[in-house]
Formats: sequence, structure tokens, C-alpha cells
Amino acid sequence: STMANEEENVKRKLAKLFEVALKVTVPSVVDVEPLVAACTGKFGDYQCNNAMGLWSKIKGKETEFKGPPAVGQAIMRNLPQSDIIESCSVAGPGFVNVKLSRNWMAQSIQRMLIDGIDAWAPRLPVRRAVVDFSSPNIAKEMHVGHLRSTIIGDTIARMLEFSRVEVLRRNHVGDWGTQFGMLIEFLFEKFSNWEDANEAAIGDLQEFYKESKKRFDSDPDFKERAQKAVVRLQGGEQKYRKAWTQICEISRNEFNRVYQRLGVQLEEKGESFYNPYIPAVLEELTSKNLVEDSQGARVIFLEGFNIPLIVVKSDGGYNYASTDLAAIWYRLNEEKAEWMIYVTDVGQQQHFDMVFKAAKRAGWLSTDDNAYPKASHVGFGLVLGDDKKRFRTRSSEVVRLADLLDEAKSRCKTTLIERGKGDEWTEEELEQTAEAIGYGAVKYADLKSNRLTNYTFSFDQMLNDKGNTAVYLQYAHARICSIIRKSGKDIEELKSMGAIVLDHADERALGLHLLQFSEVVEEACTNLLPNVLCEYLYNLSEFFTTFYSNCQVVGSAEETSRLLLCEATATVMRKCFYLLGIVPVYKI
Ligand code: ARG
Repeated sequence: STMANEEENVKRKLAKLFEVALKVTVPSVVDVEPLVAACTGKFGDYQCNNAMGLWSKIKGKETEFKGPPAVGQAIMRNLPQSDIIESCSVAGPGFVNVKLSRNWMAQSIQRMLIDGIDAWAPRLPVRRAVVDFSSPNIAKEMHVGHLRSTIIGDTIARMLEFSRVEVLRRNHVGDWGTQFGMLIEFLFEKFSNWEDANEAAIGDLQEFYKESKKRFDSDPDFKERAQKAVVRLQGGEQKYRKAWTQICEISRNEFNRVYQRLGVQLEEKGESFYNPYIPAVLEELTSKNLVEDSQGARVIFLEGFNIPLIVVKSDGGYNYASTDLAAIWYRLNEEKAEWMIYVTDVGQQQHFDMVFKAAKRAGWLSTDDNAYPKASHVGFGLVLGDDKKRFRTRSSEVVRLADLLDEAKSRCKTTLIERGKGDEWTEEELEQTAEAIGYGAVKYADLKSNRLTNYTFSFDQMLNDKGNTAVYLQYAHARICSIIRKSGKDIEELKSMGAIVLDHADERALGLHLLQFSEVVEEACTNLLPNVLCEYLYNLSEFFTTFYSNCQVVGSAEETSRLLLCEATATVMRKCFYLLGIVPVYKI
């Protein structure tokens, strides 16, 4: 329908035009995919790079063309008439450069302002996806690695949701390991009335874990009881189930407090959830001749790996891999997900490579990596401290996430007070702004670099108000809001009454960048790289700064148009913030 056409991004609109041109230019070569990309040269906004490839297919044959540049010329001549193109030119070995029409650009931006930013949502070929992220382990530390997973996973979920994918946000909590025998026994031992031992009584669950581990390692009697306790728990004995539920509940409350502060939604389906599905899943894999015996264990041998994937341990117990196989089965068959995305540190890459490969051999996942159903591992690097070693506290303890968020917030609050906001704002405004800036800074610092690299956690860096930081971006956004406020104009009225014009080169450059928002989100989704969106956002603020320093807004003849450009910039910035899980600030 025409509606769907309206929602295509610029790149795809151009690709469609070029597809026609390519067919007309060389009818003998069929199914050539148009190669269209945004470019930054002064000759064009987008470029089509098909001429060389086409030439290599037709040279030597009877052809009217003398070389790639001539093919490029013909492609250009054969482009259908379109109101989105202002002019074209051919450069070098046949690149066809396209300059977009300023009028069309201005109208598109204005239409977005009227229809809302959702009109620029990308379209993805997926209906439902699982994003498996955060996934800490009960009673063990929720460490900075889990923070990374939480932040990256949330952004991926938000970008997919914006792209109209139905997302199942799954917290694959580690709630079913052998450590529970130890924890349960320790609970019984420490509290005679253990059924009443609540969060207040048990206190810090990580401490509790450490103490029980000490007992486990030093007392053989305790160890034996703990090992029996696992069997009784897994056998479903009521007393043990009850103790387990109690321990999980305490952890859950602690996790939820962190999620709430970060504004992250998650639905817990822990490892224990998939346990009942494992036997049938392994039976299916066995019937497909994938599982075999090896030294008392049941394993899957996979090409390209020098170790097998163990799916039943030699003691008969299930493990991390058996659970993940059952989870894939469940997500595909019960939840009808087409794309499963797992966010963990890169250390788990081999585990996922093996599990996905097994699922492909079982015929569950497509063997074509570009087709669905598909599973993707989103790996990330370590968080390092200022000393470039693993991020720890001074007493080399694991850093508590709650403490980390507290510090980010309090540092921001101090800065705001130093800037005199303490007199100007209410306590509530101070608190909310400090949270928005502080938590946003922690998230952005994590998201802005390529996730596969390690990153150094530094409050000083992330809270700097200059450079590529969330603080800088928050200021940039707040400044735009203040320009609009101070103009005294009713922006809603301008949206429908006024018109955008992009006559100045810096207006046009800003406009072009705004129009590329949808393509960038699509790329970030397809490649699961949130840093692509961060880079876009940072560049947007740079384009705005250039525009603002060279084009007078308030009081100029172009005031209406320029205020609308300000509003469009703020709108796109806010959507970027939202997708990155950052709460925008309107005044600073
Ligand atoms: N609990 C695991 C950990 O802390 C992460 C789980 C990731 N998800 C999964 N389906 N395996 O390392």
C-alpha cells in the first residue's frame, strides 16, 4: 500500500528506484541487488555502487557500454522520475551519486513532527523475539557483568519494540544449581525457625552465600548433607522446595530494586522453569542421533569443536547446556519466537556457539544465518577499573550495583548544587535530575563503545560534561528545549501552520542526519550494536551545534522553520535517549 511506502526509510526508497534502473540498463542480468549507501562526500547524500559489479558480468559480451563509468551513466539516465531526488552525478568508476531534494527532506521532517516519531520506526522481518538478558544467579553476586547485560539487553529490547517486534524480555536467572543444597542446609543450620527467616533476618545474601561456602569447603559432614539436599530438592520434597523458594525470593527482591532504579522491565523464567522440559528434549535429540554416551556422560559431538557438548553429566544430572537446549525448544515451540537473542559476556561465546549448532543440527534453527528462526549471542567485554584490571572495590570486593548507582547519583547531585540549582529547584527536581543524569551516564558509558571490547569504568569520564558522554548530550537536549521555550512560540501551532525550509547548508546537513534516524536504528537492531545508535546521537548533537552557531534562530526571518528544526532535533534526541534507556532532562 502507499502507507507502507511512506514508512520506508530513505535508503530503501532509493534502492527501489535503482532496482528499476538496473533492470532497464542491463535486462540480461536478472536479480541484481541494488547497493545503496549513505555517503559523506560533497557530491551526494547517497551512492549506488552497482556499476562495477554489473560491468564484470557483461564485459566481453556484446555490449553497448565501454566500461563501468558508462554503465553508471546509463543507470543514472534510467532512474525513474522521483520527487525525492534533486540531482544525480556519476563519479570515478561509475558511482552514481544522489542529492536528495531539499523540499522533500523538509516535508518529510515536518510530517514526522505532525505524525510523531513512530512514523520513523524501522520495519524488521521478525514478529516475535526473545531477549535473554541480565540473568544473574540467585544468592551469588549480581556483578558489573550482569549490569552490562542488563543495560545492553534492555536497549536491544527497546530498539526491537520500537521496530514493532513483539519482545519477550527474559531473565534466565540461575536458580537451579548444585549450590542450592549448600544454601538450604545452611539455612536450616543457622535458623531453627528457618521458615520465618526473611530478608531482614538473613541480611546480605551474598554474605550468606560466602559463609555457607566456607562451611561446605571445611566440614565434610556439612558437605555430605548439602549434596543430599540437592537430591531432595530436585526430587521435589516439600520442605526443600519451601526453603529454595524462600532463598530465591530474597534474591529476587534485591534484583528488582536494581531493575526499578534502572527502569528495566524483565520477566523471570529461571533455569528451574525449563527443568521439566529437559527429558523430552533430550529424547528428541537422541532420536535424531545427536546424543551419544561418552565416559558415562551423554554428549553431543559437534563439528568444529574439540570438546563435546555435555548434556547429561556422569552423575546423571542436567547442566547449563541441557537447560539452554530445553529453553530454545520452549521459546520456539511454546512461545513461537523467531529470533532468540542472548546477552552475556564473551566468555560464554563457545557455550552458545555449541548450543546453537546443536539446535541447527536438530533442525530447530535455520542453517542460513540470515534466515529465521535464528539465535544470536550478543557478547560483551569485561568492565575494568582505573587500574585496567577487573573492576573491584578498594578492598577487592565485587562492586555492588546499588552502591555504584548511588555514587553516580550523588556525584550528579553535588554538581547540580555547585551550579546553584539547590536554590532554584525543589528537592524533588534535584533528585530526579540527578538520577536521570547519573544513571543515564552509567548506561551511556557502557553502550557507546563496541560491546565486544572491554571498557574502563570511570565516574570522572562518564560524568564529564564535555565530549561524548550522556551528560553532554543531556545538556545539549536541555539547551534546545530552552531555545524553544524562550522563543515564546507555541510549537504545536507552528507544526501545523509553519513550514520547514532547508536553504542553509547547515540546515540541510542537520535535516539529512535527522532523516537517517530510521536507517540507523535498523542497522543497530540487525547487527545488535547499540553503539551505532550512540554514535548517531552524538553526531546529531554535533550537527545541531554547527547549525545553531551559524544560523540565528530566535528573531531571524527563518525563525519558524528553525524552531521546527530545533523541535525535530529534540524529538529525535529524546527517542534516542528512550531507546538507550536514558531519561531525558528538559532543563538544566
Ligand atoms: N546466569 C548466567 C550467568 O550469570 C547467564 C545466563 C544467560 N542466559 C542463558 N540462557 N544461558 O552467567
